[in-house]
Amino acid sequence: MDLTTRYLGHDLNSPLLAGASPLTGDIGNIRLLEDLGAGAVVLPSIFEEQIEHENELMDRLTTTGIDSYSEALTYFPSAATNGTDPRRYLEIIRRAVEAVDIPIVASLNGITDHGWITYAQEIEQAGADALELNIYFIPATIDISGHQVEQRYVSILKAVKKAVKIPVAVKLNPYFSAVGHMACQLVEAGADGLVLFNRFYQPDIDLTRLTLSPSLELSSAAEIRLPLLWVALLAGRTSASLAAGTGVESADEVIKYLLAGADVVMTSSALLRYGVGHMKVLLDGLKGWLAARDLDTLDRLRGRLSQLNIADPTAFERANYIQVLQGYRGKPVGNQPVSLAPD
Ligand SMILES: Cc1cc2nc3c(=O)[nH]c(=O)nc-3n(C[C@H](O)[C@H](O)[C@H](O)COP(=O)(O)O)c2cc1C
Repeated sequence: MDLTTRYLGHDLNSPLLAGASPLTGDIGNIRLLEDLGAGAVVLPSIFEEQIEHENELMDRLTTTGIDSYSEALTYFPSAATNGTDPRRYLEIIRRAVEAVDIPIVASLNGITDHGWITYAQEIEQAGADALELNIYFIPATIDISGHQVEQRYVSILKAVKKAVKIPVAVKLNPYFSAVGHMACQLVEAGADGLVLFNRFYQPDIDLTRLTLSPSLELSSAAEIRLPLLWVALLAGRTSASLAAGTGVESADEVIKYLLAGADVVMTSSALLRYGVGHMKVLLDGLKGWLAARDLDTLDRLRGRLSQLNIADPTAFERANYIQVLQGYRGKPVGNQPVSLAPD
């Protein structure tokens, strides 16, 4: 069965990618993911704050006249050895690229277009095949406008694109007034791919201790609906690669995202929950589904249920919401099934 897929200018053996998480920062896991059929691996992010911290450290070293770098680092042990510093990140990229044949996508997480962006060049020099830019910006002050938020995304992307030649995907969030228009602005500014969607950290409140409780919840399959909607709306309407992520628990979610029009599907929570071996479960499930329908490539599947390809495009819009409500009053709901048979 041919599961080859193109993503960010690379030919992949499969459309299933391991998304960014602590699990993908381990070379053993990356090797295993390749063996189990992952098409590519996205490394965990290196954050703007970490890079800025290192830059500050370098400034302090050079301005205090210390000329032996490694010796000087001992003066700042916490920054130099905390396990996630930018130099170690580059080392992980080098080792990952050496260890496997599948593309290694590095991940930069930031919110400004300042000096830290030159680090993207170091990522490229370390051998990363592509870069995922996770712009994790919560406009927490109320005097910033939607237009300013959008401009921030565009200007960060432009700065990164200026710094590197490798393909750059933007991992964006669904909280724009017009997600589609934002996606188009990013593609116009040079995005080679869009990753739908980023999942913002949302703190809870601990009612016993009366504090904010910071915890990162793993996702569930119920969360695929919003990215599924936007993949289906954007598929065929943008020249950028489309990656779908969030809520992939089983092969069902993978197949749904492909039907909606995703080029690739990413999974993080499921691998953290069930272990790296779950990559094979997802791929076997996809292959089984295709085999049961006599499909031997992904072409007959991909995008068949995107908005551009279904008979009733309003099924993705308000009109269908009204139909669904009518369904509660006993009227049948549903649209025409699509055929996967050759045209
Ligand atoms: C523990 C954990 C760590 C994560 N770390 C990163 C990260 O470093 N960079 C990033 O872009 N996304 C990170 N993510 C987000 C995932 O890549 C993914 O976008 C999100 O979890 C939705 O996909 P999922 O439903 O398959 O988990 C992390 C998610 C989890 C659960």
